[in-house]
Amino acid sequence: MQNFSFHNPTKILFGEGRIADIGAEIPAGARVLITYGGGSVVKTGTLAEVKSALAGFTVFEFAGIEPNPTYETLMQAVELARREKIDFLLAVGGGSVIDGTKFIAAAIPFVGDPWDILARRAPITSAVPFGSVLTLPATGSEMNNGAVITKKATQDKLAFANPLLYPRFSVLDPAKTLTLPPRQVANGVVDAFVHIVEQYLTYPADAAVQDRFAEGLLLTLIAEGPRALAEPDNLAVRANLMWTATLALNGLIGAGVPQDWATHMLGHEITVLYGVDHAQTLAIVLPAMLQVRREEKRAKLLQYAERVWNLRDGDEEARIDAAIAHTRAFFESLSVPTRLSDYGIGADAVAALVAQLERHGMKKLGERRDFGLDGSRRVYELAA
Ligand code: NZQ
Ligand code: ZN
Repeated sequence: MQNFSFHNPTKILFGEGRIADIGAEIPAGARVLITYGGGSVVKTGTLAEVKSALAGFTVFEFAGIEPNPTYETLMQAVELARREKIDFLLAVGGGSVIDGTKFIAAAIPFVGDPWDILARRAPITSAVPFGSVLTLPATGSEMNNGAVITKKATQDKLAFANPLLYPRFSVLDPAKTLTLPPRQVANGVVDAFVHIVEQYLTYPADAAVQDRFAEGLLLTLIAEGPRALAEPDNLAVRANLMWTATLALNGLIGAGVPQDWATHMLGHEITVLYGVDHAQTLAIVLPAMLQVRREEKRAKLLQYAERVWNLRDGDEEARIDAAIAHTRAFFESLSVPTRLSDYGIGADAVAALVAQLERHGMKKLGERRDFGLDGSRRVYELAA
């Protein structure tokens, strides 16, 4: 196990009806900006529930944070927040709204162009405090300090993180996820699955706890994911999925172990060039990534095969083949296709995708920072 420091300050309010408790988590007299997306929170009544819990506060609203949140939209919220002297933000939605709110929180006090936070790693020295009400279990953004923001004008989708960007609190009410369309339920399962794989399917690091924890989360997704689609009103299933997705990327299973993230970097470029949902890009890339890098990942692939898919027969090659095939079949069982061609993207896209990676400096990826553009090209070609 590698040395690590672990500190996660986000308070989780878990369970049905917990939106009612947010007032006590926000400083008295705060000027609150509620941020949300395209309107699902209005239709589902979640926004009304949040606003009644904020009785007594001065409340403003900013709507329109799109999936894959854009700098162009978020800067409008930053201007509103500066004008109205907002001192607390409350994100109500999925990962895009929460990520967008993290950017807003950092951009409000930022001197200069806040895009430099993403493009030049400009330091963040302060951020407006914020909380979140999660409506789509997937990204773990409700309990981590990272975010992914798109700049439409330059076709950049980039990630950033900072200790100041943990939500002060997040409400995880499984009942809020019952209105999700099947596509988004499936996206959440796939995104959480790949988050775990990025922190687990690397190389052995004597991290017995993290391995068993990661395997337990994977087994939960394999068991509960299909049930969420087959039994869409089953709240117990939604509660398990919600907590699994949060634990998949709140720093716990990633502490003290090597981390990959190449699948995500290749996936982001597919989203920004072709508009494919984030999780769908991961379903496209991961099987090909594991195939291309099966040698360096051999030991953990065999452990994954045995402990997650119960594959014990046959020689090592056969077990690794079967583990990759089971992974692809799992995504397909959730109706998430696993090839670029399934999304109408031809093999001719490979050159553009590799050029994006090069432009974004993604030339040494993976747990050993040695996975280069040639490897990425092979992955995209295999995923065609
Ligand atoms: O915009 P609204 O109207 O709210 O509709 C949303 C959106 O269209 C809808 N939705 C959300 N909750 C709903 C609902 N519809 C009905 N009922 C509900 N309860 O679902 C659609 C997708 O929402 P979005 O927030 O975009 O999805 P997700 O949570 O998967 O977030 C994806 C974003 O998160 C980033 C991705 O890059 C992408 O931009 N990620 C953030 C990470 C992080 N912060 O740690 C890590 C991830 O790897 C990921 O990169
Ligand atoms: Zn992800």
